Amino acid sequence: MKTNLSSSTPSQLETDCLVVVVLDRSEKEKAEKDKPAPSVECDDIAVREATKDVIASGEVTGKSFETTLLHNPAGLKAKRLLLLGGGKAKNFSAAELRKLAGTAVRTLKGKSIRSFVFAHGAGDGVPSALAVRAIVEGATIGDFDPGYYKSDRKDKDSEQKIDAVTIVVQNADDQKSLASALETGRIIAESQNFTRDLVNEPSNLMTPTILAGRAKKMAAEVGLKCETYGTDKIKALKMGAFWGVAQGSDEPPALIVLRYEPDGAAKDVHLGLVGKGVTFDTGGISIKPADGMEKMKYDMAGAATMIGAMRAIALLKPKVKVTAVVCATENMPSGKAQKPGDVQIAMSGKSIEIINTDAEGRLILADGLCYARQLGCTHLVDAATLTGAVVVALGYVNAGIFASTDEMYERFLKANQQAGEKMWRLPIDDEYKELIKSNIADMVNSGARYGGAIFAAMFLKEFAEDTPWVHLDIAGTAWMEENKPWIAKGPSGIALRSLVEFVKGWSA
Ligand code: BES
Ligand code: MN
Ligand code: ZN
Repeated sequence: MKTNLSSSTPSQLETDCLVVVVLDRSEKEKAEKDKPAPSVECDDIAVREATKDVIASGEVTGKSFETTLLHNPAGLKAKRLLLLGGGKAKNFSAAELRKLAGTAVRTLKGKSIRSFVFAHGAGDGVPSALAVRAIVEGATIGDFDPGYYKSDRKDKDSEQKIDAVTIVVQNADDQKSLASALETGRIIAESQNFTRDLVNEPSNLMTPTILAGRAKKMAAEVGLKCETYGTDKIKALKMGAFWGVAQGSDEPPALIVLRYEPDGAAKDVHLGLVGKGVTFDTGGISIKPADGMEKMKYDMAGAATMIGAMRAIALLKPKVKVTAVVCATENMPSGKAQKPGDVQIAMSGKSIEIINTDAEGRLILADGLCYARQLGCTHLVDAATLTGAVVVALGYVNAGIFASTDEMYERFLKANQQAGEKMWRLPIDDEYKELIKSNIADMVNSGARYGGAIFAAMFLKEFAEDTPWVHLDIAGTAWMEENKPWIAKGPSGIALRSLVEFVKGWSA
């Protein structure tokens, strides 16, 4: 999908479809039986004229994701005019605009339209550069289709494919900043789709070895250093917690290290991104029930997020050193698999009593975090589909954020708000630490009946030690359970945009 900018008058553009946003400018809340006050957010009077009748009819209210398609709109050169409801004007933001751009792509794709123009009106309150970025991101994210292995895949032969999106911003005083916003948005969203692509693959086609190969190929394309290691290195590093999980599988594990080392970076900051890459989680000997187990192919979403984030970082070139450490393995039951009651010695030297082999993510991350520290990382962020408990706590809407210091949290929150992703902080107070105690070893890997997401985070904290650290539990948010107007059911690519924004925030 090509994206470009234009400053032309929307009504004068020849296109298959012109897209404009309609906001509800009524002030009162619904309870007061307020009538909607739909307002067409376009700076071109001819476009507003063309919508007069349909607005007067009451058919268009401006409520979120309402779509109205007009053919041969009077006075416009466009063949069609798509009105996209954006909800209440006072709640409108770049995050809504991003979703609307995705909605436009997904709506028009189904109508065999190949290209369209999205006109951004200055009146919606979103500054032009931010708007351009949000529109490119939303359109690119909306374009992703997970139906990879359908033999009649429609967008394969371009019958249902958006070739080009033109974003119109009238009267912008700084065209150069718009062009750079377009480029930034494109890089970030394409990286997010790269992540989603990795997550979407089934586990037979996305083994640890294949994941390492994909990371290597991407690194070569964007100019990152990439090392990938197998069983020997994992054993040589004494990664007993990681190997404990990997030992049960016939597929060899992979330790993937991606390095971004720009000139002019601050000397005292080295960010470490650690990802959980369980390419399939059966639960191991503590095997999971069959119902829904197929979804455990997405248990490598944290790893894919970090690999995708490194892609964006390599292309955006912030001046800060970043290393990604990805631990990739299957979690399988077998005659070689670890068993409940086994004790593993982690790379840091701490001993772990395995209570439940299905609590495997924290084991591989324990060694991943330790290794990132050994590589010299001064600040750590991990992302993992770690617990079902975070889904109980936050549902499918918010990802869980855990932070060892308020400063790290503030920095991450700022990035998260800029990225427009939903996340919520959960606590890791010392009082929870009681739960980790083992009779035989330094700690257990599972055991809490309640507060499971917090327990997992407390466990990880033992391995982040005194290095400032943020943990993202994306178990409930890495996979969209339903189709949404703006995004397909399947891998979401959650956390990538926040991570890239977070890294940019440290740029010297
Ligand atoms: N990969 C799962 C967590 C998960 C659950 C991811 C749902 C995505 C959707 C993780 O390895 C796991 O099995 N966690 C267990 C931990 C328990 C055994 C302590 C869980 O949450 O049930
Ligand atoms: Mn598990
Ligand atoms: Zn898992």
